[in-house]
Amino acid sequence: MMRFDGVLNGEDIQAVVDYVLTTFVINKEYNTRYHIPENGWENHQRYAIAFPFALGEVSLDTPWEELSPELRRGRRLFMTSCITCHDRAAVRREGEPWEPRAVSFPRGGYSHRREHGETDAESGATPYARHDIAPQLTGLTAQERLGERLFQGNCAFCHGADGTGKNWIGSFLEPRPRDLTDPRFTAAMDREKLRQVIREGLPDTTMPAWKAVLSEDEIAAVAAYVERAFFSAQ
Ligand code: HEC
Ligand code: HEC
Repeated sequence: MMRFDGVLNGEDIQAVVDYVLTTFVINKEYNTRYHIPENGWENHQRYAIAFPFALGEVSLDTPWEELSPELRRGRRLFMTSCITCHDRAAVRREGEPWEPRAVSFPRGGYSHRREHGETDAESGATPYARHDIAPQLTGLTAQERLGERLFQGNCAFCHGADGTGKNWIGSFLEPRPRDLTDPRFTAAMDREKLRQVIREGLPDTTMPAWKAVLSEDEIAAVAAYVERAFFSAQ
């Protein structure tokens, strides 16, 4: 997202805000220009069998027997490739399973870093909270300290601040982020392999390649921190 303050004046920005608010938020207009090649959708039309579900023309909970063979294929496509963004489209029988309540963690502004008493009980009680706490380490070298900052800023989101991958986001990834404290993993890892996997990522998983984001020195620093913080954590 670029800054527009050098491009648009205050009045222009206000006009864009008004347009987006009335058109998309209030009137819920379709943004028909989303599925275009520039957004990575070459020939969106080839998914046409799933459109009735995306557009809410056919309810997602229509009994299977009532669906034509083509709609069955469309529903299957919708469930595998479209529902992550399109939610549940339309359903016949509204009710609790379809309540559009966001399930997220932490809830209600909960932060485990805040003073005791300000947290909401539900969040504080989840098993995820304890995996969002970074190990308290003393005597870190300058390199390890840099690595700590980089890991907690870039990797903890998936791997957990404690490296276990048992945090909220980590628990939903398939495959799960590796538990960096697991002795079976640490025994098979050395510093060079660690740098290599951070640099190149792991194909067919959500583990990204970091070589375009972090410099060689930064990769070495993250690897040094992972080793120091997690390899002897058990
Ligand atoms: C990465 C998110 C994302 C995914 C995945 C996705 N869509 Fe969409 N789709 C959108 C957005 C955003 C819009 C615009 C919605 C709006 O303005 O209300 C949209 C709009 C549409 C529309 C209506 C307008 C148009 O552009 O044609 C159809 C039909 C549609 N999507 C079908 C699909 C189908 C079928 C799939 C699965 C093959 C799919 N979408 C997957 C985000 C997504
Ligand atoms: C978007 C989620 C995500 C992010 C961000 C992420 N990882 Fe991963 N990482 C994964 C997943 C998932 C795996 C496990 C893949 C598997 O088991 O096949 C993994 C695996 C690993 C492994 C084990 C590799 C192996 O060969 O077993 C290491 C080490 C690792 N990540 C380090 C990092 C570091 C360091 C960062 C930050 C610079 C990072 N990861 C950021 C998701 C992520």
